[in-house]
Amino acid sequence: MQKVYDLFEAMLADESLIAVSVSRPVNKKSSVRKVSVRPIILRGHLHYQFTYHQGQQVKHRNLSRQDSLAELKALVGHSFRQAQVFSQTADYHIIVSAKGKSKILTRPPSRQENMGPTGHNRDKNYIIPANKPCAFLHRLGIMNKQGQVLPSRMAKFKQINRFLEMVDDIVKHLPTDRELQIIDFGSGKSYLTFALFHYLHEQKQLAVRIRGIDLKEDVVHYCNTLAQDLGWSQLSFWAGDIKYYEQTEPVDMMVSLHACDTATDIALAKAVLWRSKVILAAPCCQHELFRQIDNEQMRPLLRHGILKERLAALITDSLRASALEIMGYDVQVLEFVETEHTAKNLLIRAILSPQAKDSSQAAAEYLTFRNAWSVKQPAIETALGHVLQKHLSSQQIQ
Ligand SMILES: C[S@@+](CC[C@H](N)C(=O)[O-])C[C@H]1O[C@@H](n2cnc3c(N)ncnc32)[C@H](O)[C@@H]1O
Repeated sequence: MQKVYDLFEAMLADESLIAVSVSRPVNKKSSVRKVSVRPIILRGHLHYQFTYHQGQQVKHRNLSRQDSLAELKALVGHSFRQAQVFSQTADYHIIVSAKGKSKILTRPPSRQENMGPTGHNRDKNYIIPANKPCAFLHRLGIMNKQGQVLPSRMAKFKQINRFLEMVDDIVKHLPTDRELQIIDFGSGKSYLTFALFHYLHEQKQLAVRIRGIDLKEDVVHYCNTLAQDLGWSQLSFWAGDIKYYEQTEPVDMMVSLHACDTATDIALAKAVLWRSKVILAAPCCQHELFRQIDNEQMRPLLRHGILKERLAALITDSLRASALEIMGYDVQVLEFVETEHTAKNLLIRAILSPQAKDSSQAAAEYLTFRNAWSVKQPAIETALGHVLQKHLSSQQIQ
């Protein structure tokens, strides 16, 4: 039986298992006649759902990967003599004799319809296709070598593609007469940075230079090594704090996705001071206003920690969006990924307006809104300093 167990272990490890149907109970009187198994994502993690068929009734159990291996071992050979196994690379028919000897018959895969673990068809028109080998996604552990997305990485794969859809919308605002300069602040493990480079350089065939910046030296080292392995010399990473990063060449696009708390404000301010044409920022863990906000009419809302926390995050992002408008940007706040994947799902997309704008109305709105919540000086104001202050002062004087 060891070969059977090794096979299950390998299919669970590389997530190629699509379905199992276990039948022919050893005990003829067993109430469970059949067990079927399929992958399922629960709270973002890959599990396997075991369905036990007992007459007209079915019972479900959702097990972790490790427990699934133990359960498959307990079922196949011990309690049942037959299993039909469907994987992304082959179908297997496992037969166990009365003496406990196993035989595995292998056939080409019959379930190549590429169904996701929730049963939804994955063949949506993604910018990076779900069925085609893609070197960087394979290296980042999102796809296998054959180009199939690992079930546990489907949410990340969708997030990458959603991000690229948003990038696709703004490409027209970027210059075409020279190499594009893009800065990614708080790039982390850089799934989205690699995806951005892949999309602009490989798919759109644009001359582009991207630099990711992150505090974590080991992650930066890993990303630089991966970029070199992929032969992407115009993609590089720098270890350090966003606030100390300087750039002399003009910046066309600043990306900052889920950089923590007020790091987003520093990133936005740098982009504004560079007059970056495009800004894409997905804020995260907005804590700074939680202790500051107050408004007498809103007390029933502010009394509850969870509501106040959400409201503080929304106020923080509204002030950021409003400050960008004052600074001459056209701003949209979009849903980044569906909320089922993460609560951190907003993206501030700002495009530098080609014409100089009168900022007085935006500045007046900003001040009214800020004062309504009794906020003294949000981080975006500190980060932008006198550049924003001069627009606000002219309003305060009137
Ligand atoms: C949640 S991760 C996001 C990674 C990636 N942008 C993404 O969206 O998948 C946030 C990253 O921001 C980095 N970070 C936070 N504050 C920073 C700062 N002041 N300077 C540089 N990096 C910072 C952290 O080290 C971390 O890797």
